[in-house]
Amino acid sequence: MAKLAVNIDHVATLRQARRGDEPDPVTAAALAELGGCDGIIVHLREDRRHIQDRDLEILRKTITTSLNLEMAPAAEIVAIALRIKPDVCTLVPEKREELTTEGGLDVVGHYRLVEDVVAKLHGGGISVSLFVDPTAEQIDAAQAVKADCVEIHTGIYSRARVKADIDRETASIERCAHHASGVGLEVRVGHGLNYHNIGRLTSISEIAEYSIGHSIMARAVFVGMERAVREMVSLVKNIR
Ligand code: PXP
Repeated sequence: MAKLAVNIDHVATLRQARRGDEPDPVTAAALAELGGCDGIIVHLREDRRHIQDRDLEILRKTITTSLNLEMAPAAEIVAIALRIKPDVCTLVPEKREELTTEGGLDVVGHYRLVEDVVAKLHGGGISVSLFVDPTAEQIDAAQAVKADCVEIHTGIYSRARVKADIDRETASIERCAHHASGVGLEVRVGHGLNYHNIGRLTSISEIAEYSIGHSIMARAVFVGMERAVREMVSLVKNIR
């Protein structure tokens, strides 16, 4: 059965709007776990715009499911990951001016750097996932640098509005999921997934985990964190 990992960065975004101490992402993680998710994701950005080092340290001690640290392949953050030891690190590209991660990591173009960071994280006993666009070249490169998983970028799929575009992007994700699984990589998907567009992906049997943040946080504002997570868990696991 597929897993749901919940990204709680936006709780920290709300806290940082006042540079205060509420709402606390640590509380959000505990409630998301009560809602039945299988893991918690945070992105420690180099500019620390939302998640802070303190959050990561406390979450490492309190999370009872699995902690996935999203991060740029940057030396400072790699050193932090090796000290904190999340269960998984997901390598993403990072641009300071972006609102959110805009595209997959170019593993082909940054082969040596990614290979080196994967080896360092493996040396610390941490699994590594690479966030990649749905192309066979990036997936082959992910396998070549010895990543454990790929997280296929679903941003273009999520933004598609016309049926022909939705069909094309679904097929591309399905093809890549099949390819990645065939070369021994665990398959995850994420970016822009919500309560409406997830349905088409749940028939892709190779998808082991969904990584979802914004839509769950948006719903949690109105119905509460635990319920928002529980509702997404039932979609991911096809529970009716
Ligand atoms: N996966 C990755 C690699 C991301 O960078 C993000 C955004 O932080 C997500 C998944 C979650 O995307 P969303 O917030 O749109 O659900």
